[in-house]
Amino acid sequence: MDDATPEEVLADFKGDRRLGGWGVAQIAAGTGLAVYAMWVGILQPGFRKVPLRLQVPYLPASKTQVHNVMRLLRGRQGGLVDLGSGDGRIVLEAHCQGFTPAVGYELNPWLVRLAHFHAWRAGHHGKVSYRREDLWKVDLSKCKNVTVFLAPSVLPLLQEKLQAELPDDALVVAGRFPFPDWTPCRTEGHGVDRAWAYSMQAQRQYACKRKDMLSQETLSVN
Ligand SMILES: C[S@@+](CC[C@H](N)C(=O)[O-])C[C@H]1O[C@@H](n2cnc3c(N)ncnc32)[C@H](O)[C@@H]1O
Repeated sequence: MDDATPEEVLADFKGDRRLGGWGVAQIAAGTGLAVYAMWVGILQPGFRKVPLRLQVPYLPASKTQVHNVMRLLRGRQGGLVDLGSGDGRIVLEAHCQGFTPAVGYELNPWLVRLAHFHAWRAGHHGKVSYRREDLWKVDLSKCKNVTVFLAPSVLPLLQEKLQAELPDDALVVAGRFPFPDWTPCRTEGHGVDRAWAYSMQAQRQYACKRKDMLSQETLSVN
């Protein structure tokens, strides 16, 4: 190389520039692979058995959203369950506000670990419960206070599960996205931080009324 003529150096340089383009392509491919590996290895484990249409990505509730959810739960007592508890922030706050037991169900093991870490750092280790379980398989028949922050696509199915399992005196609080067919008894906040509270007894009464109206309509048509 030391003996290279200026023409050879120039040719090398041009070659390097071509390699540079190839290098950029390699970096892009490498980055794509790293993002994919992170998705599969960190964000997706635990979801292999969950049908694609029921998979909900992790997105933490904002501070204002947590505050709004807690305002809607004011005056309530007993236990609380967060379905898809992420890093455990709602469960931890619920525990701090006196809900016992405060339980989070979360499929992603990394998030369950992170939730335990947050509880330990806040001095509440062992007082909150984070379970690595599929929320669709949890028996909710004894839950009085339920919080959810899930994708709109799964809410119609979750509505059915909650309606079939929860006791009449249960209160459900949804963050960011409302249940499509339910009528809230209260709401808090605006925009992306909004939260909706639903009384289970009221939903059952509305459902009965809707059924009655539908059968009356069918009768009058026939
Ligand atoms: C939008 S995040 C909300 C996290 C947390 N509740 C919050 O408000 O910060 C939804 C969470 O639900 C979890 N999740 C989705 N499907 C689940 C399932 N079938 N069982 C348990 N957790 C699930 C996801 O891993 C994710 O952490």
